[in-house]
Order: sequence, then structure tokens, then C-alpha cells
Amino acid sequence: MNDQSAAVQIAPISPVFGAEVHGVDLADGIDDRTFERIHRSWLEHGVLAFRGQTALTAEAQVEFARRLGPLHAHPAAPAEHENAAVFVIRTHRDSPISNGNGWHSDVSCDEEPPSATMLQVQLLPDGGGGDTLFADMEAAYATLPPATRERLCTLSAVHASAHVYPGRYADRGADEVAVDTPSAIHPVVRTHPETGRRSLFVNPSFTVAITGMERSESDTLLADLHEHCTRPEFQIRHRWEPHDVLLWDNRRVQHFAIWDYWPHERSGHRVTVQGTRPFFDPGGIEPDESPIRVSIGRLA
Ligand code: SIN
Repeated sequence: MNDQSAAVQIAPISPVFGAEVHGVDLADGIDDRTFERIHRSWLEHGVLAFRGQTALTAEAQVEFARRLGPLHAHPAAPAEHENAAVFVIRTHRDSPISNGNGWHSDVSCDEEPPSATMLQVQLLPDGGGGDTLFADMEAAYATLPPATRERLCTLSAVHASAHVYPGRYADRGADEVAVDTPSAIHPVVRTHPETGRRSLFVNPSFTVAITGMERSESDTLLADLHEHCTRPEFQIRHRWEPHDVLLWDNRRVQHFAIWDYWPHERSGHRVTVQGTRPFFDPGGIEPDESPIRVSIGRLA
């Protein structure tokens, strides 16, 4: 019998996180054994970049994503695809702003933000550009001194969207006034529900305040954390090739979609999987010593 799983090759992108997957075309469908291998690798690496793909139908993409859990619905973006589970990522000459053009973890303003995001970019911009950056929040946490980690583990933060969503989807008919703008309070350090590992869970797009802290102290701490979290040592960069598929873990990574291709167009299909409420487990395991050495400034 043909062993599909044996053909799959997983190649780490950096010593820290991220891996490329070769040897399987998701459009062909995958058997359970291959799915289990992909799932394990995704939990291990945080971001998987499937190379050598062909165009996925919406049904095939949704079917794959559903194997990771029930799907998540975007609170503010009107559905543009006939399959309501598909969120069309589309940036063009007249876009008010590009999807994801700022560091974030998808929809972290939701009480139960997405766990996984699966994206296939169908139309790459003429002339190049449109790469996606990722930053590993486990590495960001692991490089902090123990006393700083201990303090951060006691804190929670507000993730809001009233400053994000109104107007953002105006070009696809969203009502600027009636748009849903959820907000939620999440722990600053979260425990991954599947791996048990800890990571920082704040991002500059949605996280607006540390709860119970004076405004100026909160602003300073968040600015320091955002600067730390987005250091190049924690980053990988995906240069898209036609039909690549990315699968990332929002419980572990942040990402940033670079808009360096105006006036050209870039579009793709994104499907997100419903996550659970972020939590911090005080009995959880602290990370091993990090291989990365960074200067941590005021976070020392
Ligand atoms: C997103 O933030 O989900 C979009 C990422 C991308 O377009 O590369």
C-alpha cells in the first residue's frame, strides 16, 4: 500500500521555530496517519509552510482545517466567499488598509481566539513582495529573566478591537458603525493547551492595556513587550510561491503581512479554527534555557 506519510518531509526553517513541508499536496487529500504527522509537526514548530502545492478548493481547505477543530468565524469582516468558512484576504489599489499589516495573533480580541489559521495565497502581487513574517512568542518568553517571567505570569491584558475593525472592511460593505468590536481579557503569559508550553500573549494590534495598572506604567510595559516580542531573533519570513499553504498556531506565534506591493493586488483564502479561552497554568513547565541571547533593556 502507498504510504503517504512516508513521503512527507519536514525541514526546520530556523533553529527556533517554523518548518517547511514537502512531499504532499493538500489538494489530493491526506490520510489519517499523514494528518497526525502534520499535526505533531505543527505543534512542534508553530508554523508549517507547505511547498509544491496546487490550488485548494474551498471544500478541501475547510475539510483540512476541520480536522483541527470546529471553525472560527471572523467577528467583523463580511463573508466574501460563497463558502462562509472562507475569509477572503484581499489587498488592492483601493484597500483602506491591508489585512494583517501589523503584528498580531489572529482575532486575539475574541474570548476564544482562533487556535489555527490556514492560508493559501492564490494571487501573488505582480513584481513580488507580500511576504508574511512570524515571531515566536515561546522564544520571546524563554529569553526573559526568571524574575520578569514570574511577574508577567501574574498579569492580564485587555485585547480590544474598537480601534481596529470600524472602517477596515468598508471596501467589502461592512457597516462602519454597526460592526462588532469584541474585547477580552487574557493572561499575559499563556499555557498552550496541547503542548503545555508557555508563551507571551500580547500583540501591538489588539492589546491595549494591562489590567489594574496605571495607564503610563501599562503603556511603558506594553511598549517594552511589543519591542521584545518582535525582535528579529524570534522571526522567520515566508516568501510566497504560487499556491503555498501556511498553517500557523495563533496560541504561539504572531504574524505580520507586509504591504510593500501597492498598487498591485494580493489575495488568498484564510480559514481559522476555533480556539479555547487562553489560560495560564501556574503548575506548568518553564522552558529550557533558550539558545538565543538578546539584550532585554527595561524588561531585565
Ligand atoms: C492574516 O493576518 O491572517 C493575513 C496574513 C497574510 O495575508 O499573509
